[in-house]
Amino acid sequence: MKTHTKYDIFSRFYDLVEKHLEKKSFPKWRKLVWEKVPLNSKVSEVGVGTGKNMPYYPGSVEVVGIDFSQGMLERAISRSTKYPDKKIKLMKMDVTDMNFPQNNFDFVISTFVFCTVPDPISGLKEVNRVLKPKGRAIFLEHMRSTKWLNNVPLYMMNPIIKTLVGTSVIRKTKENILEAGFHVVQEKNLFSDIVKLLICEKN
Ligand SMILES: C[S@@+](CC[C@H](N)C(=O)[O-])C[C@H]1O[C@@H](n2cnc3c(N)ncnc32)[C@H](O)[C@@H]1O
Repeated sequence: MKTHTKYDIFSRFYDLVEKHLEKKSFPKWRKLVWEKVPLNSKVSEVGVGTGKNMPYYPGSVEVVGIDFSQGMLERAISRSTKYPDKKIKLMKMDVTDMNFPQNNFDFVISTFVFCTVPDPISGLKEVNRVLKPKGRAIFLEHMRSTKWLNNVPLYMMNPIIKTLVGTSVIRKTKENILEAGFHVVQEKNLFSDIVKLLICEKN
C-alpha cells in the first residue's frame, strides 16, 4: 500500500494517537519552530498533516500548507476554519514534485515529515528549490541516534511503524538534509539526539 493511502486511513486516528504527546513535549517544540518565523514572511509548511501547527502560525504570516494525503488535508482544512484571521492556504501536493516556482518562499517548515516521505532526498531537494536564496528551512524531525543504545528500541519499533504508516524511525535525516544542498545554521537536540530542531540555509 502506498504511503499516502496509509495516511488517508491513519488520518481518522492521527490526532487521537498523538493526543498525549501533543499535551507533553510537542507544544513547546512547535512553538520553538514558529517563533523563528518573522511576521510578513511567505511560508510553506510541507506535510502539513491535520494542521497541528496552525495554533502557532504567527498572525500576519501567509502559510501555504501542502500534503499528499487527502485524508490528512481534509482535517487540516476543517481545522483551518478555527483560525479565520490567519492567512492559510492548503493544497494537495507531493513534496517531491511541488507546483511552486523556484526561490518562492522565505521559510519552508517541516515538522515530523521527512521520516515518512518515501523519497526524502528528492523532497528535500524540492524544499531547497522553492526556498529563496536567503531563505531558511526549519526542520523539527526525529531520526536515528548516533548512540547505538538509543537505536535499539528504534530498530525494534521500526518494522511495525513502517508497515502501519510508512514512517521510518531510523532515517539519517540530518545527513539527508545536507545531501540535498543545505547547511545547518542552528541545531538543537530536543530529545537526546533523536528529535532535533535544524535551521538550515541553501549552500
Ligand atoms: C507524521 S505526519 C506529520 C504531520 C504534521 N507535520 C505534524 O507535525 O503533525 C507526516 C505527514 O507528512 C505527509 N507526507 C509524507 N510524505 C509526503 C510527501 N511526499 N508529500 C507531501 N506530504 C507528505 C503525510 O501525509 C503526513 O500528513
